[in-house]
Amino acid sequence: METITFAWLLVILTATSPAVKAKYYSGSHIIDVPTTMKETHLHFFMHDILSGNNPFSVLVAKPKNTVVKEGNVGPFGAVYVFDDPLTEGPDPKSKVIGNARGLYASVSRGSDATLLFNGDLEFTSGEFNGSSISVVSRDPLVLVKEVAVVGGRGKFRMAKGFSLINAVFVNITSGDAILEWHVTLFHQ
Ligand SMILES: *[C@@H]1O[C@H](CO)[C@@H](O)[C@H](O)[C@H]1NC(C)=O
Ligand SMILES: *[C@@H]1O[C@H](CO)[C@@H](O)[C@H](O)[C@H]1NC(C)=O
Repeated sequence: METITFAWLLVILTATSPAVKAKYYSGSHIIDVPTTMKETHLHFFMHDILSGNNPFSVLVAKPKNTVVKEGNVGPFGAVYVFDDPLTEGPDPKSKVIGNARGLYASVSRGSDATLLFNGDLEFTSGEFNGSSISVVSRDPLVLVKEVAVVGGRGKFRMAKGFSLINAVFVNITSGDAILEWHVTLFHQ
């Protein structure tokens, strides 16, 4: 009986659909927001390597008539795309536990070199294999800084948090850097 009703409903909907104006939104309804969230801390190292024949970060655009000096993030407006390995330890040969993929752009017109970091950091091993965090944040080129975690996927759904970032290695000639991340997350 229910099946028949459902079938009729489908027929009616199909028949009337051309006349129905499409909407880009659904009706709003009250939801129960979970009152408990999980807190998770992550600790890993990101290898942002621009030098060599197989760089992890590449310049893809810059304003006309500007030059990128070696070891400089480039003029205001320069854009880089990166696919950086994440490892357990600071040594590039230590165990890879994920990758950071995204883009960063040089967004300061002043002498305070600043990037906008826009990346998805996905983990490829352990408890959070396949889960990721989304980072969208101002990223000043200083040795110690904080970036905002604005979301996540998988086990990190609805994540909010921040990461303290500490540069453990910087080559000012090539721009290569190894960055230590200490992430604090609240998620479902
Ligand atoms: C991570 O998940 C992928 C996809 O499910 C799987 O192929 C891979 O073996 C897993 N890796 C580890 C280290 O658990
Ligand atoms: C820094 O980068 C330059 C240019 O790529 C390279 O010649 C030099 O060996 C690097 N120094 C270190 C300590 O990695």
